[in-house]
Amino acid sequence: MVKQIKEVMPHIAFGGDYNPEQWDEQFWLEDAKLMQEAGVNLVSVAIFSWSVIERKEGQFDFVWLDKILDILHSHGIGVALATATASPPAWLSKEYPEVLAVQKNGVAYQVGSRQHYSPNSKRFRYAVKQLVTEMANRYKDHPAVKMWHINNEYGCHLSECYSEESLQAFRTWLKARYQTIDNLNKKWGTNFWSQRYNAWDEIQFPANLPTFYNPSQKLDYKRFMDEAIFELYKTEKEVLRDITPEIPVFTNFMYEFKPLNYFEWAKDMDLVTWDSYPDPREGKPYRHAMHHDLMRSLKNGQPFYLMEQVTSHVNWRDINLTKKPGEMRLWSYSTVARGGDGVMYFQWRQGRAGAEKFHGAMVPHSNNPESRTYQEIKQLGNELKQLDGLVDARTNAKVAIVFDWENWWAVELEGKPHNKLSYLDQVYQYYRVFYEKNIAVDFVDPTSDLSEYQLVVAPMLYMIREGEEKNLEQFVDQGGTLVVSFFSGIADQQDHIHLGGYPAPLRKLLGLTVEEFAPMADDETNTIVANGELSTVDTWADIIKLEGAKSIATFKENWYQNSPAVTIHQYGKGSSIYIGTNPSEAYVDKLLEGILQQLNISAPLSVPNNVEVVERTNNNQTYLFILNHNTDPVTVSLDKGVTYTNCLSNQKVTDEVHIEHTDVAILSY
Ligand code: GLA
Ligand code: GLA
Repeated sequence: MVKQIKEVMPHIAFGGDYNPEQWDEQFWLEDAKLMQEAGVNLVSVAIFSWSVIERKEGQFDFVWLDKILDILHSHGIGVALATATASPPAWLSKEYPEVLAVQKNGVAYQVGSRQHYSPNSKRFRYAVKQLVTEMANRYKDHPAVKMWHINNEYGCHLSECYSEESLQAFRTWLKARYQTIDNLNKKWGTNFWSQRYNAWDEIQFPANLPTFYNPSQKLDYKRFMDEAIFELYKTEKEVLRDITPEIPVFTNFMYEFKPLNYFEWAKDMDLVTWDSYPDPREGKPYRHAMHHDLMRSLKNGQPFYLMEQVTSHVNWRDINLTKKPGEMRLWSYSTVARGGDGVMYFQWRQGRAGAEKFHGAMVPHSNNPESRTYQEIKQLGNELKQLDGLVDARTNAKVAIVFDWENWWAVELEGKPHNKLSYLDQVYQYYRVFYEKNIAVDFVDPTSDLSEYQLVVAPMLYMIREGEEKNLEQFVDQGGTLVVSFFSGIADQQDHIHLGGYPAPLRKLLGLTVEEFAPMADDETNTIVANGELSTVDTWADIIKLEGAKSIATFKENWYQNSPAVTIHQYGKGSSIYIGTNPSEAYVDKLLEGILQQLNISAPLSVPNNVEVVERTNNNQTYLFILNHNTDPVTVSLDKGVTYTNCLSNQKVTDEVHIEHTDVAILSY
């Protein structure tokens, strides 16, 4: 049986990617000592080591890795051992060119960077299996190995492949899905533009086409590639489970990453881990927070590890701003507050050679232990040692936002009434309000059990697969409040329209029908009137006919003036609210504020602006995080009559707490 994460790591994990093969051996002992001093307890090793482990086909050199693992273990540092499959060696594609992924234009990718493999190549899968088997057998009993880090950021650079072998695999996948070619024709709607197929081998990729592709085909290609990459992951996982059944496995996810359906992937992982690189220029901390909340939600609230972040700055943006003093620490605490049981970095030592040599790291080029970067690392690493009690603590949210990868794929396919709609932006728009009000939010998929929530928001849920509306109906019927925004309930899983009047599957629940869509030009706006108050809307207007719902805001201008823009409908013991336009921030704030008040959902504390408040609970102990993102200090009033313990200073706190700028208080009670 696989061990629980808290069993193998009873501490907040702290460390990063460690690439010792890029350094002379003389650095290794010094690295281990510095890690120890900085409180590092976990490092990921061998992520990009394939070419130095398997020097030629079947010839393995583990001497260096043996040494590294021994050094780390003797310094009390655990290892998330990578399977080393992230970047295949040059000899592999020289011997077997079919392992290379192929671009749309038919040109194969080449060696010299990374991730150039085709997920569908059987020869590649075979090579992966050989390597992982060797790794697992070699290190199955090594005491340093705490978990397996499978591959790295699957799909990051390459999530499509147009090789002949991929085409064969696509056809096989379609056959399994549709059984008969007639069924495929029906499900793809191929009578449109004479696209009917007689045989499976007539089917091609949705690529290199003179004009619009078939959306059902494109959607299936996305599903196919997601599953192909997932199969590759599972090839590794199965080998590891077989040889090391007790050691937990994971791969590291990315943020805002569309090609992989992470809700599905997470089911096959023992730990969700992900890599976060918010741009300091952006100044939108709610986005970073949302990624954390989404990752925590992928395995039903089980804590995640932040596997990679940077101490200072990346090197892959046009201009790479550096985090200001204290920001790295503060943002790391936001990670922990939102369900992170691991705070890790790319990478331990700043590289000397290669494409990432200007990417920040825990130990900078100067190698100076007095450097700001290393000092901040050392401070944080040693502070985190005091938070063992937090490991596996949970978040209790009463609000959920529906997030659905397939919907993301479908709603952003071309040929829509408005082709600049961003699913993520619609989700951010609603998430932001909860973030700013310090209301905990989980993410759910449309089939999740919603019974724990009082409020569910489903932004732009364009795709509703068969029966999914029942889950939403049941939630509202039993007393829940549902908010749905425009362009929802339009298409089924094939991206065919749900007939019966938009949004057909949600019509009964929302008590309305949308007779027409009226998208707005880039510079166009309208105004809505709600209780006599005006606010600006843009992007989209639904022409709504009420069927039991009540209008709570109407459009003021244009040919559809006075028609409903926002509605509410009582359904069973609950109510559903529909937003048939893209409202201003101020309107969304007000609307959600009213709903939260009515439902009696409030923040743990009331605090000044830009102060983030989050709670996690463990064994009857609550940990209250108060993070001051302001450039000035704040004083925050606490609940009267409660005696808190400041987890970092161990002092008792009552009534109020003073927090310096860019600083945090973690209070347990
Ligand atoms: C990703 C990769 C790392 C490294 C970092 C740089 O997260 O997983 O190997 O390239 O980006 O930011
Ligand atoms: C052209 C084509 C039609 C149709 C329309 C859509 O006119 O001839 O088949 O695609 O565009 O506007």
